[in-house]
Amino acid sequence: MTQTPYQLLFVCLGNICRSPSAENIMNHLIQQRQLQEQIICDSAGTGGYHIGSPPDRRMAVAAAKRGIVLRGSARQFSWNDFAAFDLILAMDKSNYQNILSLDRQGHYGNKVKLMCEFCQTHSDREVPDPYYGGEAGFDYVINLLMDACEGLLAYTLQEIKSR
Ligand code: 4NP
Repeated sequence: MTQTPYQLLFVCLGNICRSPSAENIMNHLIQQRQLQEQIICDSAGTGGYHIGSPPDRRMAVAAAKRGIVLRGSARQFSWNDFAAFDLILAMDKSNYQNILSLDRQGHYGNKVKLMCEFCQTHSDREVPDPYYGGEAGFDYVINLLMDACEGLLAYTLQEIKSR
């Protein structure tokens, strides 16, 4: 019997820098390992300012240096996402709190985690917002997310096994 895919949602503020990077890095790892049938990724922003926009060009340049193309257009996180996804990854603590504040009845808190929980080589607790900074900040976000995505992939495969 084929199982339904495990669904991951990456969330930041604008859904144009950090979360589309996480989504596309994760898809890159998933494709390398031919896990497309088992894991599906999406991303969203807690804010609505950039709805419909493609990923930020500066972020796309940083990702391209690592061979990753950023695809997608921004959408806002919605309450329906709690039921639709198996795991929701917040990029920073503010995103985390904003997501949880939409779960008034506290049903979904166990589905929401900070992305940096999955880092294996970085000690950061949050993925820093690169929007108002320079090129180095965008490069740092990509490196940090490559690390977190590797750890997240290992965790997700364990979760799939234990379903
Ligand atoms: P993101 O970055 O949350 O990683 O997509 C930001 C994008 C836009 C803004 C802030 C952060 N903004 O203030 O418009």
